[in-house]
Amino acid sequence: MAANRFDGKVALITGAGSGIGRAVAQRLASEGARVFGHDIAAEALTETEQLVRDAGGEMLVRDGDISKRDECVEMTADCVAAYGRIDIVGNVAGIARAEHFVDVAEADYRRMMGVNVDGPVFVAQATIPHLLEAGGTLINIASNAGLMGQAFTVVYCMSKGAIVQMTRSLAMEFVKQDIRINAIAPAGINTALSTGFRIPDDIDFELMIPYSGYRGMGEASDIANLFAWMASDEASNMHGSIVSSDRGVTAG
Ligand SMILES: NC(=O)c1ccc[n+]([C@@H]2O[C@H](COP(=O)([O-])OP(=O)(O)OC[C@H]3O[C@@H](n4cnc5c(N)ncnc54)[C@H](O)[C@@H]3O)[C@@H](O)[C@H]2O)c1
Repeated sequence: MAANRFDGKVALITGAGSGIGRAVAQRLASEGARVFGHDIAAEALTETEQLVRDAGGEMLVRDGDISKRDECVEMTADCVAAYGRIDIVGNVAGIARAEHFVDVAEADYRRMMGVNVDGPVFVAQATIPHLLEAGGTLINIASNAGLMGQAFTVVYCMSKGAIVQMTRSLAMEFVKQDIRINAIAPAGINTALSTGFRIPDDIDFELMIPYSGYRGMGEASDIANLFAWMASDEASNMHGSIVSSDRGVTAG
């Protein structure tokens, strides 16, 4: 592994309080990045900050709700005020639920779209000017759910499909400028999101087999490893890509 690929770089990571976001924050900091972490869960975020600092890394944090545009603007301003630049942005924060489509409450529908779509859009709007200045990179966490139809998670799939298309379309809008924009599409990763996933008792489980896969779950570090590579100069040829890391779930 190349050492300190991110010396002098600043990374803004949402969802840094848990799971993939925490693993990404730890991984980038371990290779020299100064990390600005964001999450709605203040305590968990402080835990990540402590873990990074205990390992000798540099990290600052801010808690708030990315579904609010003002919060994304202020978070970005805080990061720039503290560190002077932004080289890497990770749109990682997200939520998931399983339900019968016709039973999805309006408030739950709006929350899912608010966190999983509005949030990444507002974060991208606020940070892209800084990434253009730095010649930086935006990495969105999509999902296998954004690439295939899945029963009982229709709204989650819609939200991740939006992330796939946001990634590709932004890549085209900025194709002539010095910025790289890509997405990672994980399937089942062992995190709070997946362990807390509740499936209604009365669903047809057979319909869930295609997206459960045959190789079990991955770890947050699997995605953090890929994220670090995509954020590094080693991935300079990557722009507009949706890269699956899913143990074969979307292969067949
Ligand atoms: N775990 C999986 O199986 C899996 C698979 C594919 C994609 N993903 C995606 O990976 C991303 C990270 O998920 P994870 O598995 O690490 O889950 P996680 O629950 O461990 O972490 C998600 C973090 O996002 C934060 N968050 C939620 N709503 C927020 C808001 N409104 N504002 C700010 N922060 C908020 C949570 O507090 C939490 O710390 C998500 O976008 C998820 O959809 C996860």
